[in-house]
Amino acid sequence: MKLTHCHNIDDFRRLAKARLPWPVFDYIDGAGDDEITKARNTAAFDDVDLIPNVLAGVADVDTSVTIMGRKSALPLVLSPTALQRVFHWQGERAVARAAEKFGLWFGISSLATVSVEEIAALTSGPKMFQLYVHKDQGLNAEMIQRCKDAQFDAITLTVDSIVGGKRERCLRSGFSTPPSFTLASLLSYAVKPRWALDFLLREKFAMPMLDTRIKLGSGKAMPISSYFTEMLDQNLDWRMASKIRDEWGGKFCLKGVVSVADAKRAVEIGADAIMISNHGGRQLDGSVASFDALPAIVDAVGGQIEIICDSGVRRGTHVLKALASGANAASGGRLYLYALAAAGQPGVERALTILKEEIVRGMKLSGVTSPGQLNREMLLRR
Ligand code: FNR
Ligand code: LAC
Repeated sequence: MKLTHCHNIDDFRRLAKARLPWPVFDYIDGAGDDEITKARNTAAFDDVDLIPNVLAGVADVDTSVTIMGRKSALPLVLSPTALQRVFHWQGERAVARAAEKFGLWFGISSLATVSVEEIAALTSGPKMFQLYVHKDQGLNAEMIQRCKDAQFDAITLTVDSIVGGKRERCLRSGFSTPPSFTLASLLSYAVKPRWALDFLLREKFAMPMLDTRIKLGSGKAMPISSYFTEMLDQNLDWRMASKIRDEWGGKFCLKGVVSVADAKRAVEIGADAIMISNHGGRQLDGSVASFDALPAIVDAVGGQIEIICDSGVRRGTHVLKALASGANAASGGRLYLYALAAAGQPGVERALTILKEEIVRGMKLSGVTSPGQLNREMLLRR
């Protein structure tokens, strides 16, 4: 299978599966427990039909929106994801460059493999840093300061990962960070020579946002979920979140909110945006799908805070349904990660081209010329 054979996100998933050692693919593709929420995240969009209008004169369509004060060419955000240079040697650099080319927000994770300083030097596009609050308060302060110095546009505090989700595929494969080559998994890496040579011969694995204080590279490799449970501050609460917002002083987003009560709390502490998210089903399996949680949250806080619908998005029409439900934008991780793993920057650019075409086609066939025209009367819940 080649890049030119990829015509949707699922095609990229297949190509990524062909190119990655299965432990690495399973880390991306996998989720918590029985992966019920991951499946529901995407299926939720299928339970709602679009009701298009016609004869609307749609020759000129403007797909742009403003998200946290920065223009975005599409109502789509590339969500922060960890360890990107493990999936493809270009890693976060490829995603940053592709996002800039398409005029989109993207996120750099606390567990990124490229530093915020390098990303800031690479692109002037809208970018968020995703903060995991560690027990090491000095590390938290240092990461926030580095984002200020690098002039990042927003800090996104992830609040649904206070402990690690039960990633059973990773328990079976032994996938860890940094990736370790156990005898059991050695074969899986050996049969993907292109990936293995890139990983072994190119730039050494590093987590530059953590390395100053957490010697992951020299310490024992650990499963991501153990990292969460051992290293993150389980005392994180609304008081601390509000303090972080004040310490940062810039645009502030909470990622991982799915309840109305929490959405209201986010407004109270002055967050600029919430990402309604269940981490792509990777944390609390059995929790509500983001698209299912969206309408009640829009009814409660719509217009008081920007709302981004994250998790399960694989199609342009999913983005349109989220906006018709009241979200300001949609976001996703796997929708670009499969493409990154499959083919680096050209892969991400092809995936974004496909999603942009699907959004434009969907808007035209729905009779709308701007995202703001999408509304609930254009949806029919089965
Ligand atoms: C993630 N996600 C994530 N979220 C976060 O806040 N910090 C992180 O470091 C990561 N890392 C990460 C790695 C991988 C491999 C995946 C698949 C996801 C979650 C991500 O931001 C987003 O919420 C989900 O990916 C959304 O679900 P979909 O779009 O992948 O279905
Ligand atoms: C994950 C973490 C890194 O989902 O957010 O794997």
